[in-house]
Amino acid sequence: MKIAQFSRIGFMMAAVGSAVGLGNIWKFPYITGEYGGGAFVLVYLMTVMLVGFTVMIAEMLIGYLGRRDCVANFETLAPRHKQWWKHAGWMGVTSSLVMIYYSVVIGWILNYITVAMIQLPSSVSEAETTFNTMLKQGLGTQIFFHTIAFLITTAVVAKGIKGGIEKFNMVLMPALMLILGVMFVYAFNMDGFSQAFSYMFTPDWSKLTSEAFAVAVGHAFFTLSLGYGAIMIYSASLPKEGNMVHSSLFVIAGDTIIALVAGLVLFTFLFQYGAEPAKGPGLVFISLPAVFFQMGVIGNVFSVLFFLALAFAGLTSAVSLVEPMVQYLIDKYDFSRLKAAIVMGLFFYLFGIVAILSQIEWSAPALTWGGKNFFDWMDYITSSVLLPTAGLAMAIFVGYVIEKERVVSTLKPQMGWFFPVWYFSLRYIAPIALVVVLLNLTGIIKI
Ligand code: PHE
Repeated sequence: MKIAQFSRIGFMMAAVGSAVGLGNIWKFPYITGEYGGGAFVLVYLMTVMLVGFTVMIAEMLIGYLGRRDCVANFETLAPRHKQWWKHAGWMGVTSSLVMIYYSVVIGWILNYITVAMIQLPSSVSEAETTFNTMLKQGLGTQIFFHTIAFLITTAVVAKGIKGGIEKFNMVLMPALMLILGVMFVYAFNMDGFSQAFSYMFTPDWSKLTSEAFAVAVGHAFFTLSLGYGAIMIYSASLPKEGNMVHSSLFVIAGDTIIALVAGLVLFTFLFQYGAEPAKGPGLVFISLPAVFFQMGVIGNVFSVLFFLALAFAGLTSAVSLVEPMVQYLIDKYDFSRLKAAIVMGLFFYLFGIVAILSQIEWSAPALTWGGKNFFDWMDYITSSVLLPTAGLAMAIFVGYVIEKERVVSTLKPQMGWFFPVWYFSLRYIAPIALVVVLLNLTGIIKI
């Protein structure tokens, strides 16, 4: 089965679209707040460059050389023990599991576009009530907007690599950048900007625990879409003459710049109106809407634009979360693309409803085990267990298993003198960092 190809720019946009998501705008600012601002940002930037860049090239290479779905890629590329290695390709399942809760959060965002258009909450406590009512009682509302997220994502994936995913990203990503750009220029001229800047870039080392380090690596993977099969499956559609080094630098730069810009904009608004930076996941859904209200008319406009941008970021990532298993069904079982998209769509749609129910007051107790509800379990299993494991598998696979000749002949022309540095990092630094993260995030060892 031959996989369709992106255009070169289409590939870059799609890969950036996958990377830039809720992780950048929703998650990055609040974990930065939790783990001490500047110190966390520095560690995060370091891990992005050291581990993120290294593993991204490895993941791209597996897709580029294999040209098939994740399972088949590992199977065909492994020189021996194929039966064993092919199981590493199940990392593609991780993305479908992430999509279960990702789609629910996109639903919240779509709902907040309407909240922003109709009536913003006038204070933090009102904003808290609005959010908690949606979360704990708004079953119908959440299912309604989750359905919209499901329909859009499935339709785009059903239209295929070129006619669906590439086109979608080519429109939504520039729109997202434009919106953030406008908000950044506005924020730049506010008094709160310098406070936001020093908050994000002045390190407070005392808050930098080993846990913060593990969270930084985990987030670097999540935000760069590494270890989920998304980048791998897109790279299987990278034109032969495409350059993996340029592409990954482009993705990393784009993703990092957008995270930093989003953080600066958010914190400027918060500081300007005296709101607290560290508010956990409620930052975007509670603190921010209240601040937008205080900003007056411009706040109304910005709030709609902001949630729109967030929805764009989420949806372009969502299609890349669904694609790995869609491609698997097409490749392995000869499904038509439409049928595969519907099957995978229904998978995340139905489990997404379970994720919603697991936070609704009356059904939550039945869907909570060991202190975590179904929604939290999906997040925990994917980002703390499956993701570092997949990262490790890829680093070992490309670093030790595939014939070195193949790696050299493909990447050396693109990397030049940098090749040995990358190869060293892949074989030694990335695996060690990932083992530490795995042990730390699963709580087996706290270093
Ligand atoms: N990178 C996306 C984000 O930051 C999430 C994502 C993870 C998308 C894995 C695809 C694959 O939100």
